[in-house]
Amino acid sequence: MKKILSVVGARPNFMKIAPVDKALRRYGREVSHKICHTGQHFDDFMSKIFFDDLKMPRPAFYLGVGGGSHASQTARIMLELEKVFETEHPDLVIVPGDVNSTMAAALVASKMSIPIAHVEAGLRSFDKTMPEEINRIVTDVVSDYLFVTEHSGIRNLRDEGIDNDKIFFVGNTMIDTLEAHYDLIEASPVTANMGLTQGKYILATFHRPTNVDDKESLAALMATLGHLAGHRKVVFPVHPRTMKNIREHELEKAIPRNLIITQPLGYIEFLSLMRYAELVITDSGGIQEETTYLGVQCITVRKNTERPVTIDVGTNHLVGTDLEKVEKTALDILGGITKPGRIPELWDGKAARRIAEIIVEE
Ligand code: UD1
Repeated sequence: MKKILSVVGARPNFMKIAPVDKALRRYGREVSHKICHTGQHFDDFMSKIFFDDLKMPRPAFYLGVGGGSHASQTARIMLELEKVFETEHPDLVIVPGDVNSTMAAALVASKMSIPIAHVEAGLRSFDKTMPEEINRIVTDVVSDYLFVTEHSGIRNLRDEGIDNDKIFFVGNTMIDTLEAHYDLIEASPVTANMGLTQGKYILATFHRPTNVDDKESLAALMATLGHLAGHRKVVFPVHPRTMKNIREHELEKAIPRNLIITQPLGYIEFLSLMRYAELVITDSGGIQEETTYLGVQCITVRKNTERPVTIDVGTNHLVGTDLEKVEKTALDILGGITKPGRIPELWDGKAARRIAEIIVEE
């Protein structure tokens, strides 16, 4: 029996690993699978609620590392993980996504000569000022199995000289999770509970350091949402990083009164808000993909995206960080100038099954 250990730490990791765990359980005679949670995200509404919503097993290991600077957070994850790998001796470590926990786990495993599988390999924004870009590059270079979600990922890995035999185009496990919970998402009472008319409100999320760490950018962003709230109701679930900055910059009074502010929501409630939104405005990575799958218009307030398929075939509008342009594009969309979208290749709910099959066969 081979031992597989998946390392997760931050909110977007959980929905990417849940279907992999489920798919590996089908091979219970060949492999055992355990989850290690680094504790990078620690609030119940950033972590526990996802394990509950997605019916994931409790992590076998919890490292409790918490927040901090990149160096200290990454270093603490590495020190704690080394101990887990030393006692557990996994035959394979799986790391999803691009957060600090992903890179830290990949580095520790590679130094201990433990094979690594990267779920969501090959994505590149070509912007090294993003911490995630460094995490992606480092993780991919030490990984043995690179599971790719879109064609650009294959190209990027080949361009970086990664051996073709290591690259597997499998689709998107986050979309597996969305597909598996689609009925619950559609049936959620969240829109009614919040007094929203389906198809007639805007959902907004912001947490990228470039948008929310600087006082002026954050204030301007909230003002833009305030203007749009003059046209449609705007729901704004606030990420802990964003809330911390609102408090530190004493911007509580700058929050427009007409915004519907909530704390971060659970998976089903949030995806239901996304499903029925007329427009989503975000700087998230994953939300660009989820809106593309759902066919919901999405404005991405970033200068680049590592997920170009959401622009090329999906409903994503990459508009940059000029907020006048964001507002104009939003008003165009509300006025009916929308982008038709298709679902990208292999985003069919079966990516995790492909991954499990490859892992077990190899
Ligand atoms: C992290 C990921 C980012 C991902 C995002 C999704 C990195 C470099 N960044 O960003 O790629 O898009 O998660 O949410 O890995 N905090 C809490 N409670 C929590 C979690 C965070 O209060 O449960 C606060 C802490 O003050 C923490 C800060 O938010 O220091 C930032 O958290 P951190 O994990 O460092 O980065 P995120 O901005 O969440």
